[in-house]
Amino acid sequence: MNNFLSWFVTIVSVGFFLGCAWLIWWTGRPQKGEASKGEVTAHTWDGDLKEYNNPLPRWWLWLFYITIVFGLAYMAYYPAMGNYAGKGGWTQTAQYDDEIKRADEKYSKIFRGYAAQSIPDLANNTAAMKSGQRLFINNCSTCHGSDAGGATGFPSLKDKDWLYGGSPEAIKASILNGRNGSMPPMSAALGGDKGVGDVANYVMSLSGGPHDQNKASAGKAGFAVCAGCHGANGKGNQAIGAPNLTDDIWLYRGSLGAIKKAIVKGHSGTMPAHKDFLGEEKIHLIAAYIYSLSN
Ligand code: HEC
Ligand code: HEC
Repeated sequence: MNNFLSWFVTIVSVGFFLGCAWLIWWTGRPQKGEASKGEVTAHTWDGDLKEYNNPLPRWWLWLFYITIVFGLAYMAYYPAMGNYAGKGGWTQTAQYDDEIKRADEKYSKIFRGYAAQSIPDLANNTAAMKSGQRLFINNCSTCHGSDAGGATGFPSLKDKDWLYGGSPEAIKASILNGRNGSMPPMSAALGGDKGVGDVANYVMSLSGGPHDQNKASAGKAGFAVCAGCHGANGKGNQAIGAPNLTDDIWLYRGSLGAIKKAIVKGHSGTMPAHKDFLGEEKIHLIAAYIYSLSN
């Protein structure tokens, strides 16, 4: 904050406290010509109900002064006035870092213990899987769903169908380093709409979905431009995350329209890397949880 603003905040804050102290002193002291006790004001209600003008009880008054002293001390200790850092050296970030450090010390032992076990072993450890599930829900469920069932564009992690492989190592690598599945627009390579329609019908035929037999036969040759990534038989390639097109499990949607759209527009699915954010030990445990869902 700039100097002017800093002084402004400081003066207004301190002034406010001093103002309150003055106001209490000024209203609390006996006014000129006022009896110190028992004076009756001229106000009368219900015929005989009179109002007394007694000074505030001392203890009550002192409470006010004590809160003011407390407030001033608080402002001196904490960074409560403009750029002033406070005598106590407290900062929000230091408090946060400190809490994280204490939590890490407390929990890292547990995660380190788990990290020393193999993923298949961990997958059979009920207590470990409870922690793994909690980590999954906190960090992954927004994209993959709280039951890991996935959604359009976000793969299910509980079936046996894998874009990048379902071995313990492959799952862990997906989480650690992230994944980026990239399919370029392909309609130019197929000579436009007719080629796209034919190949889309051919792709539908691979998994036995509803398709036009003639168009599918016409599209078989065109699929050659897809084979480099999806494989000659359409079974996919886990090295680049090209999905298996024959199993009727779809990352996007398995309709003719959705397949045409995939060919015309391409796709680019991104799984963010979690290495820096979660650290290897927690990821080991989450990987075991994912592994346990389909094994
Ligand atoms: C921002 C959304 C997002 C978050 C958060 C996210 N993922 Fe993903 N994840 C994806 C997408 C999208 C893919 C598919 C990437 C692709 O299309 O190539 C994916 C792919 C994967 C894969 C590979 C699946 C396969 O079939 O090979 C695994 C394993 C995985 N995620 C696990 C996790 C775990 C565990 C977490 C939490 C630590 C997580 N993801 C958090 C979006 C996300
Ligand atoms: C350069 C490699 C590459 C080529 C060439 C390619 N694809 Fe793909 N395709 C991919 C990848 C990678 C994905 C997954 C995209 C993602 O993760 O978002 C994909 C996704 C798809 C999908 C969506 C699958 C699903 O499960 O929802 C369809 C359909 C598809 N491709 C069909 C084709 C067809 C048909 C061709 C040829 C005309 C083709 N692809 C050419 C790499 C390729």
